[in-house]
Amino acid sequence: MFRIDVDNINGKTESLYVFGDKSILTELEAHNVLINYSCRQGHCGSCILKLVDGEVLHQECLVPLSEGEVLACQSKPITDIKITTKD
Ligand code: FES
Repeated sequence: MFRIDVDNINGKTESLYVFGDKSILTELEAHNVLINYSCRQGHCGSCILKLVDGEVLHQECLVPLSEGEVLACQSKPITDIKITTKD
């Protein structure tokens, strides 16, 4: 089981405990932590988050990402992670 710390959601940090078998976006939704998204397929870039700490397995991504950015819809945690909304 992995821990996802999400910073900057309504000005506070949320901690979720997940198995790492679903995307970060799906896990956030399951825990009522809402972030922007649109396509859910790695095409639009709406769901970009900053990975502050830890590692993720990143799947299909057609969006150019900067260092430390991940697509919530296309990544799963493989360690405990800390993420934050972009700015
Ligand atoms: S929702 Fe479109 S890239 Fe994630």
